[in-house]
Amino acid sequence: MRHLLSTRDLTRAEAIEILDIAEDMAAVQLREVKKLPTLRGKTVVNLFFEDSTRTRISFEAAAKRLSADVINFSAKGSSVSKGESLKDTAQTLQAIGADGVVIRHGASGAPQTLATSGWIDAGVINAGDGTHEHPTQALLDAFTIRRRLHGAASRGRDLAGVRVVIVGDILHSRVARSNVWLLSTLGADVTLVAPPTLVPVDLTAWPVTVGYDLDAALAAGPDVVMMLRIQAERMNAAFFPNSREYSRTWGLDDERFHRLAPTSIVMHPGPMNRGLEISSAAADSPQSTVLEQVSNGVSVRMAALYLLLSGEREATA
Ligand code: CP
Repeated sequence: MRHLLSTRDLTRAEAIEILDIAEDMAAVQLREVKKLPTLRGKTVVNLFFEDSTRTRISFEAAAKRLSADVINFSAKGSSVSKGESLKDTAQTLQAIGADGVVIRHGASGAPQTLATSGWIDAGVINAGDGTHEHPTQALLDAFTIRRRLHGAASRGRDLAGVRVVIVGDILHSRVARSNVWLLSTLGADVTLVAPPTLVPVDLTAWPVTVGYDLDAALAAGPDVVMMLRIQAERMNAAFFPNSREYSRTWGLDDERFHRLAPTSIVMHPGPMNRGLEISSAAADSPQSTVLEQVSNGVSVRMAALYLLLSGEREATA
């Protein structure tokens, strides 16, 4: 694999390979092996033009556990604030010898541009671009679902027949997009539930069912309920009902949470708006995988870095 830009590009076999390598990485960490020598001598740059807690920290942890050198770049406090372009920033990274670039950017398509522009020779991982995709988030979500459902027998398996309901601000969610493609490729049945104003207009190519009634979707007994963050920073006030109305109609509040089967798992990519899209009872319950998702993110990102940067990378994307 030369770059990891989108889950839409992944075949079932490629997705399962990444999840299986992540299992190997998790097993190594369980043995309390602090570091693998796999990426010794490689340099990974975390290039973040948007804020992040989980993704940036877990990519840093993943790269360090593989013995790579890590450079953290935040647009805030860099020459980007003086108007430096993505091209000049990329060429600066090329000049310092970056082997891998993990990029988060507010513009959809920025990682693709970086990967295909010729400005840089590094492998590129999309760590979230605008409202487009967040592939490693979807991979860690799939990894988490697979582990919860299949435990130690996860290796080699897909998610055939797993019923997943993704709820909330679909319109602005790169997490939702990456999950729709990946979970469908792995055989899951995906239902989206959202206010009509927060559903993308053209869903014809999406392999999903769309609904507007959360109670009906939960009554169908999903295996997984994935709540999304309301992305207030990306939306016009006209899109958004008031918070109380949103929580009452589309939030996983205490009452809805207690109606779920005890085997249903509750997911959220974080950061959470507690009390808005998810209650604390739901977020902190044993059914919640919120912190498992964070831990699993390190293993999945180790797998992605390993696939991109160990050995000779393929000549073409
Ligand atoms: N889930 C996620 O991308 O979180 P961060 O924005 O904190 O990286």
